[in-house]
Amino acid sequence: MFSQEQINKFKNTPTPFYYYDIDLLKRTLIEIKKAAPKEYSIHYALKANSNPKLLQIIKEAGFGADCVSGNEVKRAIEIGFQSNHIVFAGVGKSDVEINYALNNNIFCFNVESTAELIVIDELAKTQNKIAKVALRINPNVDAHTHKYITTGLEENKFGINPYEFDTVIDLIKKLSHIQLIGLHFHIGSQIGTLTPFKNLCLRVNEINNWFIEKGYLLPHINVGGGLGINYHEPDKESIVDFESFFNVFKQFLELKPSQSVHFELGRAFIGQCGSLISRVLYIKNGINTNFAILDAGMTDLIRPALYQAYHKIENISNTASQTIKYDVVGPICESSDCFGKAVSLSETKRGDLIAIRSAGAYGEVMSSSYNLRDITKSVFSVD
Ligand SMILES: Cc1ncc(COP(=O)(O)O)c(C=O)c1O
Repeated sequence: MFSQEQINKFKNTPTPFYYYDIDLLKRTLIEIKKAAPKEYSIHYALKANSNPKLLQIIKEAGFGADCVSGNEVKRAIEIGFQSNHIVFAGVGKSDVEINYALNNNIFCFNVESTAELIVIDELAKTQNKIAKVALRINPNVDAHTHKYITTGLEENKFGINPYEFDTVIDLIKKLSHIQLIGLHFHIGSQIGTLTPFKNLCLRVNEINNWFIEKGYLLPHINVGGGLGINYHEPDKESIVDFESFFNVFKQFLELKPSQSVHFELGRAFIGQCGSLISRVLYIKNGINTNFAILDAGMTDLIRPALYQAYHKIENISNTASQTIKYDVVGPICESSDCFGKAVSLSETKRGDLIAIRSAGAYGEVMSSSYNLRDITKSVFSVD
């Protein structure tokens, strides 16, 4: 929901652009802090949105950083996240990336394979360092989300499978420059109910106990991210129910007193704070359908084209209650460049401003210059 003042500001701004509601971001951060028990360590997943201005606010609120590339680690350090609050996951970390993270003494590598353990050990040895690692485990828990953003099933490329545990333990005993400090899990993204998180807890308990029986009482248990947001009704649920989310872990995760819990949330931090604002270039009446052709396309927001993601679309120039159905599309030379089919909008004409809501996560970070388009700009509610 936008105020008239905001809409007037948009009218004088070249489109398309991401608009970030800083007040909502700050309120969201406060809610996370309120809902999470003091002893929980919460890391923000930069992959959701690494815009420096937003990162600055998240850092100032006292959160850690979860990174999935060397450049994300670099961005986190540049912004001022403390290196001992930076974790680094990713199924294919390059030597350059590992060396950079080692050089900067990050808190922990979330390691995804035995091959990677060996490489990290070698590189740490060269730097005369001990690398702290957590094993990213594939728990085979169904996140019940889109198949492109589910990560914790046997068929997915992520993590170490339970049948490899004995081999991993034997290997770790031989590696002199690795210190095993934890277990890491991340089952997927945009998880819309709490049941997968409960199932994750139950599985973590089993796996944690297995390691304890083998003599490894590991101090850090990282349960990843994945908490979904309400794309259908962003104004009704602009801040996720973090209390219920953390309650699941309080209730079902059985940890030893010396063990601490870590989270890596991305979308739930930032998703509702951002909207993609664009203008209608043309209305084109097809045989069966009316097209509203925007100046924003899949190069600005790829989620609908990439995984058929739904975003609420609003004509904010005309809010009359009578609506017409439009296929809302972009200007890119690809048929998949479509934000929504048969979208009900108030009668729409050239020049109207269109808001594509809940675009704060996995929006700007995935923008590209395909078709030699300009990289999407960002505008903030407070400068
Ligand atoms: C390893 C890892 N941690 C955390 C996240 C953040 O997930 P989300 O934005 O769904 O909270 C992701 C994203 O998929 C991830 O791959």
